[in-house]
Amino acid sequence: MKGVVFTGLLEMVEKRFGYVVANNIIIKSNLPSEGIYTSVGTYDYKEMQSLVKQLSDETGISGNDLLEAFGTYYFDTLASKAVGFFSVSDGLFVFLSKVESYIHPEVLKLYPDAQLPTFIIEEYSDKRVQLLYQSRRRMEYFAFGLIKGAIRYFGEAAEVRMQIKESGDTLFIISKQ
Ligand code: HEM
Repeated sequence: MKGVVFTGLLEMVEKRFGYVVANNIIIKSNLPSEGIYTSVGTYDYKEMQSLVKQLSDETGISGNDLLEAFGTYYFDTLASKAVGFFSVSDGLFVFLSKVESYIHPEVLKLYPDAQLPTFIIEEYSDKRVQLLYQSRRRMEYFAFGLIKGAIRYFGEAAEVRMQIKESGDTLFIISKQ
């Protein structure tokens, strides 16, 4: 996983829980990287799991809730880094349909070693988009938070629900009233 994602997580932790908590989770996670991340570096995604687990122990908030909150927080960071990849005028649904076909492929051009999930569009209509998330990293709660961040960013009256399948894939259902 790219260092930008780790620095984003630690930035959120510092802002919401303070420097001491950020420092504690790094120390307690016993990380191969020692918590020193550069934005272009690549680190084992299991370090993310360790940091979230320690943060959960420190705060009493579940790991899933923390990953979701991080996704929502991180969307604005991604949007500011991806100026030119999309704009608010695209609208939420067009944007969501472009993550797999355009946005993540552009990320791969910038970072050839990026590890990205697959999103299959299962339904696309005026009222509803269904995206099937597939990734061996199982970061569906991060995806859930990112989609909530996107809804907020585009300012549309939409909601998202998630269904984790037995296969381990996750279906996201994004609907407009
Ligand atoms: C709502 C829209 C988006 C969703 C749901 C989404 C979902 C995800 C998820 C779940 C991951 C974690 C890896 C995995 O699950 O296997 C990821 C990684 C990533 N995404 Fe997206 N993404 C979205 C939009 C974007 C945008 C707008 C950008 C900006 C250019 C972006 C750039 C990245 C980058 C840099 C990574 C890290 C890759 C790595 O660490 O190797 N994503 N995305």
